[in-house]
Amino acid sequence: MKLVHTVVELREEVAQAKAKGLTIGLVPTMGALHEGHGSLIKAANMENDFVIVSVFVNPTQFGPNEDLDAYPRTLEADCKMAEEMGANVVFAPSPKEMYPSEDDTWVEVTGDITKVLCGRTRPIHFRGVTTVVSKLFNLAQPDRAYFGQKDAQQVEVLKRMVKDLFFPLQMRIMPIIREKDGLAKSSRNTYLSAEERTAALVLSRSLKAAKAAYDAGERNTAKIINDVTEMIKAEPMSNIDYVEIYAVPGLLPVGETLTGSNLLALAVKFGTTRLIDNVVLEEK
Ligand code: PAF
Repeated sequence: MKLVHTVVELREEVAQAKAKGLTIGLVPTMGALHEGHGSLIKAANMENDFVIVSVFVNPTQFGPNEDLDAYPRTLEADCKMAEEMGANVVFAPSPKEMYPSEDDTWVEVTGDITKVLCGRTRPIHFRGVTTVVSKLFNLAQPDRAYFGQKDAQQVEVLKRMVKDLFFPLQMRIMPIIREKDGLAKSSRNTYLSAEERTAALVLSRSLKAAKAAYDAGERNTAKIINDVTEMIKAEPMSNIDYVEIYAVPGLLPVGETLTGSNLLALAVKFGTTRLIDNVVLEEK
């Protein structure tokens, strides 16, 4: 496996792979790789001839008071894991390499899809994500790109971008990977104290209960949201940002009664750590 840091080096790797007629799978990450990322790399390895993993803590998707500086940076361990899971190249650029000209050019998906859920408290976040992912798509020219369902809004926004900008690639979305006790894997879990981590289990518990209620026939939107909210509020260390339901694809508003496919998504703080999780509610 090769570690490259510059655009020129990455372009060279991509040109060589394309010249051999290889298909390319891209796994964009911010590093601190865990089993969730591992599942993306593994899937990319199974479905493509050549796998590129990018490791870049993208400054433009962090707000002024967010955790850009604290975000874990573990490149050596990331390379080891990427190699074990079958990556051919790790691309780990510097901020200057990715943003050589003072961030003049932005790719932004406008409309409610980027304003609801996380977009409400993180107004510049998705613009940063779509900009950096566009750059990565242009550099890696993948046949397939891999993202985790845990970042469900990101997935919806990126799918819209790919459609609107005619990126010639397939979006591959992999299921949420959880710890044995249900906590969704996240690079930010490392911020949690032992007590906060235990408290955070209420998230997967409440989503599981909502899914069970839905599967048993519950379709009342307000009731499902209220039950999840009450369950989380009963955990004293929790501080809810949102518990909401939107229709997917597209994150469209839902009515009083759920029909079709719906995303039940939540963001909750434990101490200073904000966690997200979700479940899709749809007829079997
Ligand atoms: O999901 C992430 O880790 C990031 O948002 C991404 C897609 C790598 C863009 O920086």
